[in-house]
Amino acid sequence: MISSSDLKKKYIKFFQKRGHKLIQSASLIPENDPSVLFTTAGMHPLVPFLLGEPHPLGKRLCNVQKCLRTDDIEDVGDAWHLTFFEMLGNWSLGDYFKDEAIKMSFEFLTRELSIPKERFSITCFEGDKDVPRDDEVASTWERLGVDKNRIHFLPKGDNWWGPAGRTGPCGPDTEMFYHVNDLQEKSTEEFSRLCKDQVFCEIWNDVLMQYNKIAEGKFENLTQKNIDTGMGLERTVAILNGFSNVYECDTVAPIIDKVVSMSPGKTDRANRDARIITDHMRAAVMILGDDKGVVPSNVDQGYILRRLIRRSIRHAKILGINGSFCKEVAEVVVEAMGESYQEVRRNSKRVFEELDNEEKRFSTTLENGTKHLERELQFLGEAGQKTLDAKGAFDLFQSFGFPLEITVEMCREKGFSVDETGFGKLMREHQELSRRGAEQKFKGGLADNSEATTKLHTATHLLNQALRAVVDTSICQMGSNITPERLRFDFNYDRKLTDDQIKKIEDWVNNVIKAEADVSFEIMSVDAAKKVGAQGVFEERYEQTVKVYTIAKGGTIYSREICGGPHVKNTRELHSFKIIKQEAVAAGIRRIKAVVI
Ligand code: SER
Repeated sequence: MISSSDLKKKYIKFFQKRGHKLIQSASLIPENDPSVLFTTAGMHPLVPFLLGEPHPLGKRLCNVQKCLRTDDIEDVGDAWHLTFFEMLGNWSLGDYFKDEAIKMSFEFLTRELSIPKERFSITCFEGDKDVPRDDEVASTWERLGVDKNRIHFLPKGDNWWGPAGRTGPCGPDTEMFYHVNDLQEKSTEEFSRLCKDQVFCEIWNDVLMQYNKIAEGKFENLTQKNIDTGMGLERTVAILNGFSNVYECDTVAPIIDKVVSMSPGKTDRANRDARIITDHMRAAVMILGDDKGVVPSNVDQGYILRRLIRRSIRHAKILGINGSFCKEVAEVVVEAMGESYQEVRRNSKRVFEELDNEEKRFSTTLENGTKHLERELQFLGEAGQKTLDAKGAFDLFQSFGFPLEITVEMCREKGFSVDETGFGKLMREHQELSRRGAEQKFKGGLADNSEATTKLHTATHLLNQALRAVVDTSICQMGSNITPERLRFDFNYDRKLTDDQIKKIEDWVNNVIKAEADVSFEIMSVDAAKKVGAQGVFEERYEQTVKVYTIAKGGTIYSREICGGPHVKNTRELHSFKIIKQEAVAAGIRRIKAVVI
């Protein structure tokens, strides 16, 4: 039996031995990335470095990253898809490329994990008008001993990764699939069918990141060629132990067992409802337990969290679990995940309270909403219609708090469809969430390094310091999100800022802009960063060296902060700074939105 923690140790040791430095898992809530709500892959926090910024730890990195993806939410309940999962990754930032990356993947799988090569099928990019077919990659696999007949060429939809957003680093990839019960070679058609049937399971993806997709849709060569790999921890643990699904993995099994034990009827680990509850509660606890303090709401990350919790509650009702159950399941999640992610233990009180509150809020409306929908569907059926219109779905959201998936699922069970596109439009209009649509937010994306966002990155450092200088020295950053239009900054403070404080903060920042201070960075040890008083998260940092940005003029240091960049060269580039909004986001956490003009 190989446990999750055994596999993590093996992976990290293997890559450390090959010159990779271990970096810590970033938060599930991305810093300064306007285009994603959650960290969906280990590469997200590394975007500036993939685009060419030097990383303080060098050109070879590895880690275990907590990830959340909701674009596959409909598939949850099958053998292999999870919304929250852990990703093992190794990166070359302009160092080794295809050949060496593939050799290392092969060696890790076949020597370290002792998987026979007959278990694998490999996919490579078949080429298109922009980029040629990847014969080079296929021949590397063949040289290593993979039979030619186990190597399949597939189009962009399958063998191209990124950019997760509209623009950013991307490239063809080569993926490693494991066949759960067969050693026979397959034709490409049969292979594709068996992937859909979940007989093949993708366990690792090596992205050969050599292009930057720019706004006009063109692919430019990146200044450096990178390798970005991601191996699914739960899937790999499952296949190594001969399991046929991820619910048997040691960080998932105790949770589904708890759900099964709470169900009054006869059920087991194969039950789809039990699997959905397990997956969604695990994800919800990891979001709530993150140090960034996200709570259920109707916008952004809070809305996704709400959807996960509410969908769990509905499936619990289907299983006949009555009364509150979230906290009891969450306790098992904290137990299963707390060893690797201490923050979940630290924040467990908040996790339980928020789950209890959300469960109370939704349970009261679930029953009434269900009755309302059943009546609506009866009317529609009598009128010979088969689609619930957008307004009907939106009313359910507004009056009963039904997230779209719940409405879609309930309609599907009764043979109706929902105008989901129309719902998305109403949702966007109603929430004014942002320029990106609500549905877009379920997809990944990458930060842009445009001039506008670069300026706002620097303004964020100044705002962070101004809050301490003007309001309270114990203030620190709880979250940050930057779009080309504005910065958004969350910090620990329990009161509304007065008009006078707002004005003083703006003046503080504008004075530094007027002072024409230089912005520079230095790579230094964590100890040195602490000694020079750099702001940043020091706890649980594995890195021995960090990048510290300083904003200073003639011996006066205005700000010093650990950060990946990028930043402007001189504060004069910001012209002027203005706060446009302040609000509360959670107990003890406030949010400021600001612009540079
Ligand atoms: N970014 C790639 C993926 O998510 C490799 O990690 O599959």
